Amino acid sequence: MENPRQRKKGRKAGGSKERGRSTKPVDNNHQAQTRSPCTLCLVVFGAILGVLTAVLLILPCPADPQEYSFSDPRKLEGPLAPNTILSRTEHFVEGKVIGPESLVTYKGDLYTGTADGKVLRIRGEEVTLVGRTGAPPCGTYETEPTCGRPLGMRVDSLGNLYIADAYMGLLKMNISTGEHETLIPMDVEVAGHKMMFPNDLAIDRDGVIYLSDSSLTWQRRDVFSLVMEMKPGGRVLRYDTKTKQVRQIMDGITFANGVELSPDQSYLVVAETSTARILKHHLRGEHAGRTDVLTDNLPGLPDNIRRSSRGGYWVGLAATRGTNGLNILDAVQARAWLKRLMFKVLPMNLVLLAAPRYGLIVKIDEAGAIVASYHDPGAKSIAGGSEIHEHDGHLYIGSYFARFIGKLSIEELDRL
Ligand SMILES: *[C@@H]1O[C@H](CO)[C@@H](O)[C@H](O)[C@H]1NC(C)=O
Repeated sequence: MENPRQRKKGRKAGGSKERGRSTKPVDNNHQAQTRSPCTLCLVVFGAILGVLTAVLLILPCPADPQEYSFSDPRKLEGPLAPNTILSRTEHFVEGKVIGPESLVTYKGDLYTGTADGKVLRIRGEEVTLVGRTGAPPCGTYETEPTCGRPLGMRVDSLGNLYIADAYMGLLKMNISTGEHETLIPMDVEVAGHKMMFPNDLAIDRDGVIYLSDSSLTWQRRDVFSLVMEMKPGGRVLRYDTKTKQVRQIMDGITFANGVELSPDQSYLVVAETSTARILKHHLRGEHAGRTDVLTDNLPGLPDNIRRSSRGGYWVGLAATRGTNGLNILDAVQARAWLKRLMFKVLPMNLVLLAAPRYGLIVKIDEAGAIVASYHDPGAKSIAGGSEIHEHDGHLYIGSYFARFIGKLSIEELDRL
């Protein structure tokens, strides 16, 4: 006890000796403040930097981020010229849905699947529960896998609702009763891998389902890690509802997402989200089995794709890449070292902050050309458009996080 006190005293004594010699103690104090804190701050700063660098080098990286160089974004002109059409989006059933990703119509009613694991029927403005894909509790990162997350949905003429649930696999739900069975469970290996992130599906007239599995490593709840890692682990599976056989028909996709069939069912359109591309996979004809790029360098990251009744496809953009000047997302994707650093120390949903606040949906024709775009600068009305579904004279716009379904009158759009 005595020794430390003595040492302190000694130091203090030295200080007071100095002060004692001075006739202007205030000035001396000032001198001491300008000299020593600066040295101290340098030492502390250096030490922190050293420790941080050491920690950063030693810390294992929880991902294997790849470098990816985007082309310079397309100029926002012609069919991509900025407008405020999407800003007119009405907030339909606001407060009654959470993250309505996908939409289908059956016997005049609208159906959607939400972030709290529900499948909902929407008749007029009335929203009722059809069923759940998992079980509550819901609402957190921890509960999401057991809550369930219905993403892409399709319905057949009999009232079978097919659901790509991010955690439960490919489901078939009775659209009236909510009873469901699992067609492809998560623990089944297809081409050597269990599904990790079932995302969207399309069904053809013969009952064959094309299902995207977004990643080999990341679940939906780690979707930002999936985007930033940029590894081509996504694939498309083919499931025959008659034979119950499943096989893989496409792989090497960097975040396989929206899936749609061409009107004649001769090819499949698949969103490759992280690279801002749309792929075309030939199912029939002389090129059967081949994959082409239908559209590249989209102004944002494509989510679900749905046919338009007037030809072509609606594409929801989950995030926009940047509309003027600095394009942070592209810049980060081109630097693997920076991404490794981010993966080590940052929550990856921070990349959301890098995405500009801008709502954007586009329409492409069958040749992949962008023919129309609806913008909401500042994302005042809607952002993160995940799917555009034509129903009852309107475009209904799903969003993976909105608390409403976007609604735009097609007649009104025609008058613009
Ligand atoms: C859904 O369930 C109802 C009631 O059990 C049944 O009548 C109907 O056929 C079922 N629909 C389908 C598509 O299986």
